[in-house]
Amino acid sequence: MIAPMPRPPDDWCVAIDGPAASGKTEIGSAIARGFGWRLFDTGILYRALAWHALRSNVDPADRAAVSRMLPAADLRLREPSDPDGIELEVGVGAANATPHLRDDDVEAAVSLIAAQPDVRAYLIPIQHDAAARGGLVVVGRDIGTVVIPAAPIKLFLTASPEVRARRRAAQHADEPRNSVQVFESNARRDEHDMTRTEAPLVPARDAVQIDTTDLTLRQSIDSALTIVDQAIADHAIAASQARLAI
Ligand code: CDP
Repeated sequence: MIAPMPRPPDDWCVAIDGPAASGKTEIGSAIARGFGWRLFDTGILYRALAWHALRSNVDPADRAAVSRMLPAADLRLREPSDPDGIELEVGVGAANATPHLRDDDVEAAVSLIAAQPDVRAYLIPIQHDAAARGGLVVVGRDIGTVVIPAAPIKLFLTASPEVRARRRAAQHADEPRNSVQVFESNARRDEHDMTRTEAPLVPARDAVQIDTTDLTLRQSIDSALTIVDQAIADHAIAASQARLAI
């Protein structure tokens, strides 16, 4: 019989960071499903703003114009539209941004948008409000370093650029993508995300790194779950020692 997963405290969030297509969403979903939690992929916020800029004829590279757009952008997190879904969704005012978030023009614009300090400052309170409820796996680029630096569990996922491009291309089996194009588009975003001054993509000092290059999805999920289980067990031991010391 498989032992039930040990449960974390309800106010915990698990932070997962890593480059494009490193497996954050799949691994994050497996953890969230195991606990009956929600998954918050913070990339949707940056993508929704990129989509909103494009449809409002705002040049994503024009920092002043993007900043002027923000106060009225009215970004809202929503509960999953699918009753069996666990991923938070995003709306811009009454419009549902979700169907547009992976469009090619959004893909090309999102890192430009994400590098802008005003954008990041605008999105921090939205992420903090969501994290305050706990019971959330939060996925992104700066979750362990900037958004929730006190997260009790921080994972940083990596995989070789070739493997990541292959995996992302395979995800689009319905509208096959050229893995060379995916490779180039991921590489452009990685470069932008890692070299920007504002909240660059770097592992938090206390993050546990998992290189999934040579792992199957199942093996990647299992190694993440082992780390999470260990953190929960360590917490339980520390809490009982603290009680004994009183
Ligand atoms: O799914 P994938 O990892 O390819 O991308 P994503 O998580 O949807 O993020 C899209 C883009 O948003 C990234 O390339 C970053 O430029 C930006 N982003 C960020 O700067 N900080 C985050 N916490 C999440 C995403």
